[in-house]
Amino acid sequence: MRHAPIDPELFVANRRRLGALLPPGALAIIHAADMLPTTADGTLKIHPASDLFWLTGIEQEESVLVLCPSAADPALRQQLFLRQPNEHLAAWEGDKLTKEKAQQISGITKVRWLSDLPGTIHMLMCESETVWLNANEHERAAYEVEDRDLRMARLLIKKYPLHRYERLAPLMRRLRAVKCPAEVALIRQAVDITDAGLRRMLAALKPGVMEYELEAEIACEFIRRRATMAYEPIIGSGKNACVLHYVENEVACRDGELLLVDVGANYANYAADLTRTYPVNGRFTSRQRAVYDAVLRIFDASVARAVVGASIRDWKRAAQVDMTRELVGLGLISPEDAAKDSIDEPACKKYYMHGLGHSLGLAVHDIAPVDGPFEAGWVITVEPGIYIPEEKLAVRLENDILITEKGPIDLCSHVPIRPDEIEELMG
Ligand code: GLY
Ligand code: MN
Ligand code: MN
Repeated sequence: MRHAPIDPELFVANRRRLGALLPPGALAIIHAADMLPTTADGTLKIHPASDLFWLTGIEQEESVLVLCPSAADPALRQQLFLRQPNEHLAAWEGDKLTKEKAQQISGITKVRWLSDLPGTIHMLMCESETVWLNANEHERAAYEVEDRDLRMARLLIKKYPLHRYERLAPLMRRLRAVKCPAEVALIRQAVDITDAGLRRMLAALKPGVMEYELEAEIACEFIRRRATMAYEPIIGSGKNACVLHYVENEVACRDGELLLVDVGANYANYAADLTRTYPVNGRFTSRQRAVYDAVLRIFDASVARAVVGASIRDWKRAAQVDMTRELVGLGLISPEDAAKDSIDEPACKKYYMHGLGHSLGLAVHDIAPVDGPFEAGWVITVEPGIYIPEEKLAVRLENDILITEKGPIDLCSHVPIRPDEIEELMG
């Protein structure tokens, strides 16, 4: 792992939080992510499974966490299973975790090799009532490939059909939504790295520069700061900025256009997710500025409404109402169309067609209870935008916000967002 070591107390506390939700007689099994193939004999770099990481800090493939909080033998209550290092692995893949190293990272005392896993599971099944298994229950996940968690579920249900099986995902969703201070500190690091990447990119932004050259500037800064891209960056100039998932980043930025940059660093598996919109030549036109200011007003109001107890549905709806008013002001929709606005058919949909934000953490679209309400400790994005393809012009602004009992804290407040600041920075 490239990132600095993390205090294992984070993972110890996370296991304690999960343990407190599990009833007596529970057995929970959590897996690493699969290595995914590319073509031929290629594989993608592993993306650590967020739940396993959250509970252990372990990023190595094939690892398995087994929790049995009420096991008769206290030594068997938390066990971590790893690939056993050998000379072949050392020659081809380098060092694998030793038991001692895994203990240091996770704070788990009982670390064993994978060859012990089947026997251990059988033993613990015999003293357990309910088996808590994991699955990817992200509401927006679309996947066809069965992962290790699901393969284990099939195997166990076939072999032990008389046990009761429960879903771990709803518990993880509730727990992971609330970030502890150590996690917020890691997200702040990801934000700071993103800020450094954007500042470096701005030094290279001028008419004629290719979008991919700007991507390279950001990537360079991320890598030298021990981070990766949290997602495929969107670096779209002119009409490309109107394409919500534009990731080709392939054309030249032209004088007089706006450039939309949606980019976030992944540091220690925690994501940042920021969007800024810059004038390619350093100065906004009056029309660009009018659209920018409209988005910024909605951004400010939406940050202010991100308070404990707010329902996500109401929060999103309030931004749609603001947006409809702004779009009338910009001459983009008529007052008559605005009057027909409803939650089912928002009048702003033609120019603002996506959500206002999402939970952020170990995934860029992190898990959290779908309609909230917002709780202290959630980190969310706020990302209103206006997209006007007929003017080849789009503005989106996106920051990462920590919700607290005392109100929202903008973790990106130091990343220039006011248009005057941007023009000064670019000047
Ligand atoms: N970059 C993905 C998003 O903003 O949700
Ligand atoms: Mn984004
Ligand atoms: Mn986002």
